[in-house]
Amino acid sequence: MAVTILDNSLIKHKLTNVRRKDTKTKDFYQNISEIAGLMAYEISKDFPLQDIEIETPITTTIQQELASEIVIVPVLRAGLGMVDGIRAMIPTAKVGFVGLYRDEETLEPHEYYAKFPSNIEESIVLLVDPMLATGGSASAAISMLKSNGCKNIKYVGLVGAPEGVSRLREDHPDVDIYLAALDEKLNEDGYIVPGLGDCGDRLFGTK
Ligand code: PRP
Ligand code: URA
Repeated sequence: MAVTILDNSLIKHKLTNVRRKDTKTKDFYQNISEIAGLMAYEISKDFPLQDIEIETPITTTIQQELASEIVIVPVLRAGLGMVDGIRAMIPTAKVGFVGLYRDEETLEPHEYYAKFPSNIEESIVLLVDPMLATGGSASAAISMLKSNGCKNIKYVGLVGAPEGVSRLREDHPDVDIYLAALDEKLNEDGYIVPGLGDCGDRLFGTK
């Protein structure tokens, strides 16, 4: 399993905007969405291609197209903030949903919703959630995808803690991890340091 921290100046610049505590809902969402689009561009560089014969206005030619369908699966709620940006890059992507919330005391994830497109098993699945903290939510979401037959899963997040990366590597060594930043640690409340705070609340203005 590979852990890739995307090295892109525009992503770093936008992530700084997201981290600032004064950034309000509209700009918070916009920057996350734009980062997600840039991440999709970077991650898709190696998606497998297949040859296809097409006709241009001039002639018949063999060209290439993506060999697999792409399915974006946001973890509700915060993962929703990454969907539009990725769809702007990959408009043919289908979208599934995983609903999980983290118990504030135990930090254990609780599942409350799942809905996946048909044929998700054969697709490249981008599991998106901005925050990889303890890794409990991401690990549970990946288990849900695997129990639905998914074989090619990539985790795409904004900010990760070392604890979350270790947990995913242990639980799901076959899943590649892509992050915009790897932060220092978790604090005693399970928040990423320096992080960006509670991503779901900041995205949806609920606190
Ligand atoms: C946040 C975040 C992840 C999870 C990460 O969601 O979006 O899903 O915490 O933490 P973990 O790695 O320790 O599991 P939260 O549970 O706050 O739900 P919300 O998005 O609905 O606010
Ligand atoms: N969930 C968040 O929204 N932020 C964190 O720092 C950790 C988990």
